[in-house]
Amino acid sequence: MRNLLITGGAGFIGSNLVRYMLRKHPDYHLVVYDKLTYAGNLDNLRDIASDRRYAFVKGDICDAEAVESAIRDHKIDTIVNLAAETHVDRSIMDPDAFIKTDVYGTYVLLEAAKKFGLRYHQVGTDEVYGWVEKGSSRETDGLMPRSPYAASKAGADLLIHAYFVTYQVPVTITRGANNIGPYQYPEKVVPLFITNAIDNLPLPVYGDGRQMRDYQYVLDHCEGIDLALHQGKPGEVYNVGTGRETVNLEMARLVLKLLNKPESLIQHVADRPGHDRRYSLDVSKLSGLGWEPAHTFEEALEKTVQWYVENEWWWRKIKSGDYKEYYRKQYAGR
Ligand code: NAD
Ligand code: TYD
Repeated sequence: MRNLLITGGAGFIGSNLVRYMLRKHPDYHLVVYDKLTYAGNLDNLRDIASDRRYAFVKGDICDAEAVESAIRDHKIDTIVNLAAETHVDRSIMDPDAFIKTDVYGTYVLLEAAKKFGLRYHQVGTDEVYGWVEKGSSRETDGLMPRSPYAASKAGADLLIHAYFVTYQVPVTITRGANNIGPYQYPEKVVPLFITNAIDNLPLPVYGDGRQMRDYQYVLDHCEGIDLALHQGKPGEVYNVGTGRETVNLEMARLVLKLLNKPESLIQHVADRPGHDRRYSLDVSKLSGLGWEPAHTFEEALEKTVQWYVENEWWWRKIKSGDYKEYYRKQYAGR
């Protein structure tokens, strides 16, 4: 039996990871530890709420005492950290919470891992490499973050490396490319475009829309995290993505095509400051452990569109609350 603390488990990737792990490892106990910020949502875990192998603890990763109680109460042996502030545009508007949660919160979890002798896995991002003009990022490349979000995630990665070298905490890091799939908060571009298109609202494309991202299906990413957690070597970093990039405008056109909506819904708006025009990952290190993504971009997008079409109960609630104020602030002046 293993007892895992999944921090940030009520968010998009976290809730998909919990579901994935319950299927893959029937003898594990998973404790979701989550502050339930605007992005955390127990609706994401509604279908497994009565599973006896799962428990939920509401708490902040910056609160050392609460983290330690959760570890003691549930006899935790492993931390998988997904808790973070995650949206680049919000980090540009107000970086404060990003530094607190993504950097200081990671430090608190590392201290707990050191104190209790725990295995630690960090769910990191490809954004720490910065804008990749040519070629693809390898795990040994330098970090060149260009947004407050990316910088705070890079700070976390560096702390994790330090805890491995200095205190021998058994750590691994995965650096994932952009995820898409069920339960993604509709501030991120793909669910934003899908839900706007369903309602015949404009799709705000930043700048020329020629930026590139490696959009991967969330469950492929979860499989990569699971593999690095179980077979990764302590102290190592593993990139997770499809290794193929898509131009944002093409993604927008495909969303509209899948929903049978006109391309006239595409509206170019002012670009994001410091916009990274391209991310690209070399994923050969994780492939060497036997991992490969099961979905192409097109398959991943089709499944994602389908899910949002079938699950209006989930996203309409979100889009009618505080989200409206965020949307106005973010897009009105553009
Ligand atoms: P998300 O915003 O959907 O969820 C984040 C979760 O963390 C929420 O449930 C939130 O309530 C929780 N949280 C935030 N601050 C907290 C705190 N102080 N204490 C406890 N819980 C807190 O994010 P996501 O897209 O699921 O991303 C999860 C992780 O994966 C993040 O670390 C992110 O950096 C990383 N990542 C995301 C992507 C992506 O495409 N979404 C890609 C690569 C890596
Ligand atoms: P996003 O989902 O915010 O992820 P990332 O962290 O990679 O920036 O944005 C993905 C891409 O889509 C990025 O190039 C910015 C672009 N984008 C838009 O064109 N319009 C939007 O409204 C948003 C949110 C993003």
